[in-house]
Amino acid sequence: MRQLVAGNWKMNGSCRQAATLAEALRGEAGLACDLLVCPPFTLIDRVAGLLLHTPVAVGGQDCHAQAQGAHTGDISAEMLAELGCSAVIVGHSERRQDHGETDAEVQAKVRAAVRAGLTPIVCVGETQAQRDAGQEVAVVRGQLAASLPHDFAGVVAYEPIWAIGTGRTPTSDDVETVHRHVRAALVERLGQGGRSVRILYGGSVKPDNAAELLRVPEVGGALVGGASLSADSFLAIARAAA
Ligand code: PGA
Repeated sequence: MRQLVAGNWKMNGSCRQAATLAEALRGEAGLACDLLVCPPFTLIDRVAGLLLHTPVAVGGQDCHAQAQGAHTGDISAEMLAELGCSAVIVGHSERRQDHGETDAEVQAKVRAAVRAGLTPIVCVGETQAQRDAGQEVAVVRGQLAASLPHDFAGVVAYEPIWAIGTGRTPTSDDVETVHRHVRAALVERLGQGGRSVRILYGGSVKPDNAAELLRVPEVGGALVGGASLSADSFLAIARAAA
């Protein structure tokens, strides 16, 4: 399975910066991995237009569970699909923290993504306190059990919260341990289908640690925040993918 390197731009980027970044990505050919960028909602139309007919896919950073209706400020999965998105991140820890998203809401968003024909990228991961207490596997398994529908088909991203935006990463062994548990949980839940789910690692992935992280068994790619805002660093990470 090809690895997936996905860029989560978060709440960053002007129209001009987005165009510069998309232009730089569209020239890149022959990568050994799949590439996805997830700009803020306001930039999706522009970025999707620039990346049309290129191998670089475009996704959203969140979606509402409903297709339409009285939900001020929200965006539906159908709206993302109409703009040319093929994927959407759901349950990112910043959504869980800033907006109080629960696992049940995340599961509803996963269903919405699938309904709209998008690939859901479901984020899970423990806090520093949970890691200190040795609870990371239990936390991640619990999030998967409550966030994934029984017929889940999509991508899972393991993102330890304490590694996001901090420059700190777990050791390769620690990443492998959690990813093996994620794989086991997926197979328990989905049967053989659980073997083909890509499990991304996210949290301070940079050009200088990407090769090591992407080599870890059961790591099916990376979800990249800060380093996805520059074409040079994002493409350096992509080139490190197997
Ligand atoms: P980071 O963010 O690469 O800036 O740590 C990753 C993420 O939140 O997806």
